[in-house]
Amino acid sequence: MKVTVVGAGAVGASCAEYIAIKNFASEVVLVDIKEGYAEGKAMDLMQTASLNGFDTKIVGSTNDYAKTANSDVAVITSGIPRKPGMTREELIGINAGIVKTVSSSLIAHSPNVIIIVVSNPMDTMTYLVHKTTGLPKERIIGMGGALDSARFKYRLAEALECPSSDVSGMVIGGHSDKGMVPLTRLAVRNGVPVGKFLSEERLTQVAEDTKVGGATLTKLLGTSAWYAPGAAVSALVQSIVCDQKKMFPCSTLLSGEYGLKDLCIGVPVILGKKGIEKIVEIDLDEAEKNKLTESAEGVSKTNGLLEG
Ligand code: 2OP
Repeated sequence: MKVTVVGAGAVGASCAEYIAIKNFASEVVLVDIKEGYAEGKAMDLMQTASLNGFDTKIVGSTNDYAKTANSDVAVITSGIPRKPGMTREELIGINAGIVKTVSSSLIAHSPNVIIIVVSNPMDTMTYLVHKTTGLPKERIIGMGGALDSARFKYRLAEALECPSSDVSGMVIGGHSDKGMVPLTRLAVRNGVPVGKFLSEERLTQVAEDTKVGGATLTKLLGTSAWYAPGAAVSALVQSIVCDQKKMFPCSTLLSGEYGLKDLCIGVPVILGKKGIEKIVEIDLDEAEKNKLTESAEGVSKTNGLLEG
C-alpha cells in the first residue's frame, strides 16, 4: 500500500519514519515545497532501513505530485506550526490556502485516496478539505483526538504513577486548547475507573494539563511538537492500511450525530480500509454533552473565518 505525507517538516518526517518502522506500507512518498528537502529526508530515513529493519521504500518529491499517484492514504501536515503563545486558530490565514492547494493536488493524482488532515487549525482544515475536494465524507479524517488522547493517557499515568500501557482514555471535541473534552469519567486503569484511584480535583488537573498539552510543548520547544503527532498519525494510517477497525477519536464531518451537523469535530470513529467506517455515538452525561456542544460552537466560529 502507498502512503503520501505532504510536508517533510518535523511532524511529516516523524510520521513517515514511524510508518516505515512499522513496516506495513510498501511505499511512503514524502512531499515538500522546499527544493531537495523531502528528497534529503527520504534518503536519510532510507539509510536507517538496515538498522531499523524495515522494507518500506521512502521517496522524496519537491512538489511533484505525479510521484504521489495512486496513493491509498495521504497525510497533510503542510503549513506553519504555531509559536509560543499562539493559538492553533491563528494559523488559519496561511494554512487554509496551503491545505486547499495540497488537497486538490492530491486528489488530481489519487482519486481514491483517503486523506488525513493534521495542519492546524485542524478541525477547520478538515472541514476545508471536504469543501475543496467533495470526497465522500468517510475518506476525510482529521487527526487531533488520537494525539490528545495519548497526552491524556500520559497525564493519567503520571498521576497514577503507572505505565501508560495500564490506562485507557479518550479526548473528544475540538483540537484546541479550550475545546478539548477529556472523558475522565470513562477513563480506566486496567478496566477500573480512574476515579477509584484519583480525587476529582486531581482528575480536573489531569484534564486541564491535557488540554494545554500542545501549548506546553510549544513553550518548551519554541515550536509545535512532532514525535507524538507523528506517532498518532501513523496509528491512524495503520488502522486504515491494515483494516484494523480500531476506534480513535477523529475529526469527522457530522450530520446530526451528537446533535451536531455541518462541522468536523473529534468523536469516536472506527477506522478501517474504507476510512471512517462508523461514527460511534457513546452515552455522554449532561456536563460532557454541554462541553462538546460548546466546543462545536468554537469550531463553527473558526470555520466562519474561512473565505468564500
Ligand atoms: C499539537 O497539539 C501540532 O496541534 C498539534 O501538538
